[in-house]
Amino acid sequence: MDSTGTLFLPSGSSTVSQDVDALFYFMVYASIVLLGIVVSGLIYFGFRYRRKRQEAERLTAGISHNTKLEILWSVIPTILVMIVFVWGFRVFMDMHVVPAEATEIKVTGQKWFWTFDYPEGVNTLNELVVPVDKPVKLLMSSKDVIHSFFVPDFRIKMDVLPNRYSVTWFEATQMGEYPLFCAEFCGDGHSDMIGTVKVVSEREYAAWLEEGSYSGEGLSLADFGEALFSSKACITCHSIEGKPMAGPHLNGVFGKPVPLQDGGEVIADENYIRESILEPQASIVAGFQPVMPTYQGILKDREIDALIEYIKSLK
Ligand code: CUA
Repeated sequence: MDSTGTLFLPSGSSTVSQDVDALFYFMVYASIVLLGIVVSGLIYFGFRYRRKRQEAERLTAGISHNTKLEILWSVIPTILVMIVFVWGFRVFMDMHVVPAEATEIKVTGQKWFWTFDYPEGVNTLNELVVPVDKPVKLLMSSKDVIHSFFVPDFRIKMDVLPNRYSVTWFEATQMGEYPLFCAEFCGDGHSDMIGTVKVVSEREYAAWLEEGSYSGEGLSLADFGEALFSSKACITCHSIEGKPMAGPHLNGVFGKPVPLQDGGEVIADENYIRESILEPQASIVAGFQPVMPTYQGILKDREIDALIEYIKSLK
C-alpha cells in the first residue's frame, strides 16, 4: 500500500483502497488506449480519404459497411463494460458490507462540524480516533441539512442525511492523521467543515479511550479555551479579528452591550455567553441568522468556563 499517493490519488490507507485504485486505473488506462485508437484512426482516415477531385469518390464509392469491424467494435467494448461492471460490483460489496466484528461509532454532521460518539461514552468533535487494522463502522446522521463524510485516503465517501441513518465502514491499514472533508455543499461554513481521522495503535487507542477526551490539564483556563475555540469549531463561524462571519465576531465584546434581533439589548457577561453556547436561539444578535447549533451535551462545564475565559481575554 502506497503512503505517498500518486498524480491522481492520495495515499491509500484502508483495506479497500487498493481495490478501488486498481479499478480506477484499469478504467483510466483502458480509456487512454481507446482514445489512442480512435484518434489515430481519425487522423489516418482523414488523410487517406481527403478530398482530391474525382479520386475521393473512386476510393470510397464501394464502401457501405464492414460486418467484421462492426462486430468487433460492438463486442470489445461490451466485454470491457462487463469487466468493469462485475469488478466494480465486487468492490462495491466489499465497501458496503460491514464486517460483523466492527466497532460502531456514531457520527453526527451539522452546520458546520462533526461529532463522534464512542460506545465507551467518550465523544469528540472534528477528530475521529480509531485503532489501526481494525474495522470501524460509522452510523451517521445529520442534525440539519445533507452533509457528506469523505476521507480521500480511505476511499470512502457517504452522504449524511437528516432524519435517517446512513452507514459506511473502513479498516485503516496505516497509522497517521488523515483529513476528513464534508463533500456536500451545506452552506456558508461548508469549506471549513474539516476534521481529522487519527489512526493509532491498539494500545494507544485503549489508553485514549480510558482517558476520555482531553480536559485541558496543565493549561490555564484561557489557554484551554483558546485550544477549544478551534478544536470545537467555534472558529468556523466566529472571527476574533472583528469581522462578522456566519456569527458575530467575539473580540472586544465581553462586558459590552449587545443589540438583539428583537430590539432588546443584553450585556455580554459570563451568563450571556454560557446561554449563547447552550441555548443559542434564546438571544440572537441583531443582523444574524439563528444558525448556531446547541453545544448542550457536547461541552463540559469546565470547557464552557474555559471558552468564557478565552472570550474575556480577546481584545
Ligand atoms: Cu457539511 Cu458541507
